[in-house]
Amino acid sequence: MSFPVTRLRRLRKSAATRNMIRETMLRGANLVMPLFVRHGKNISNPVGSMPGNYQFSVDRLTEHCSMLAGKGVQAVLLFGIPDQKDETGEIASSPDGIVQQAIRSVKKENPEMFVIADVCNCEYTVHGHCGTILSGDVDNDSTIATLARQSASLAEAGADMIAPSDMMDGRVAAIRKELDSKGFHNLPVMSYSAKYSSAFYGPFREAAESAPKFGDRATYQMDPANKDEALREIGLDIEEGADIVMVKPALSYLDVINEVKSNFNIPVAAYNVSGEFSMVKAAAEKGWIDERRIVREILTSIKRAGADIIISYHTQDIITEL
Ligand code: PBG
Repeated sequence: MSFPVTRLRRLRKSAATRNMIRETMLRGANLVMPLFVRHGKNISNPVGSMPGNYQFSVDRLTEHCSMLAGKGVQAVLLFGIPDQKDETGEIASSPDGIVQQAIRSVKKENPEMFVIADVCNCEYTVHGHCGTILSGDVDNDSTIATLARQSASLAEAGADMIAPSDMMDGRVAAIRKELDSKGFHNLPVMSYSAKYSSAFYGPFREAAESAPKFGDRATYQMDPANKDEALREIGLDIEEGADIVMVKPALSYLDVINEVKSNFNIPVAAYNVSGEFSMVKAAAEKGWIDERRIVREILTSIKRAGADIIISYHTQDIITEL
């Protein structure tokens, strides 16, 4: 039937029917809040380009997690800012590393909080690249060994999930093998499978002090123009044992999220990254947009595209409205 018998506006007329037939519902349990932790005591350094986000010392991070848990946040993703860096990032595997300390403290105070540990070397290397440099580029195979050790160390500290964000080939298999050999068969791996070489990571690199000192990440992160390649990355990570696959960033890659969800029957995560967050905050500060409505619309669109899990710095603002 077509117009005038069919009128789609009939079901839009009342809030009741709009509420009844809404297809995509955002839930608090879908959201993950990323947090930054550094050494020291009683520190909460605001991240200039990311209003409402801080580099916390472990004590303040733990308090912040208690506050988030009180608001209904169920999961956090931790990034460390170490006080020393080295050539290979091996320092990230130290049992007393900054993220290891943070995990132990958060889990002690808030055992219910699901703590995801990002695994990458860029915050821990003096050159800011995600692995060991050999002949001017990141060497894949020696890097994955460091990532496997870092993962095991974070697991030993009590992480609930390991999330490798380095984009080396074969790292999911290496991490899975190392975790299993240490008895962590039940610890899930959420892989940043299709992570693009994106300008949207700018504010994060200020927050995590992880910008590369030379060159860029184009030899290991994906070309923003590619979608077939994203599906190959996802397929390989699933074969290697990933429990959840991720597309990152989210907003400029909704088509990729959608394609991944349609092609694979596995939980999909999307990372609503720092640059996406900062643009919203900046426009809101200028009074040019309605932040609350925009944030809901953005997160709903990421879910509608096919993401089951959304990692977003907006989590702490929107959680009480869900
Ligand atoms: C580390 C990492 C990055 C992000 C998450 N993990 C930065 C990068 O690849 O340079 C970006 C997150 C964000 O922008 O919010 N490899």
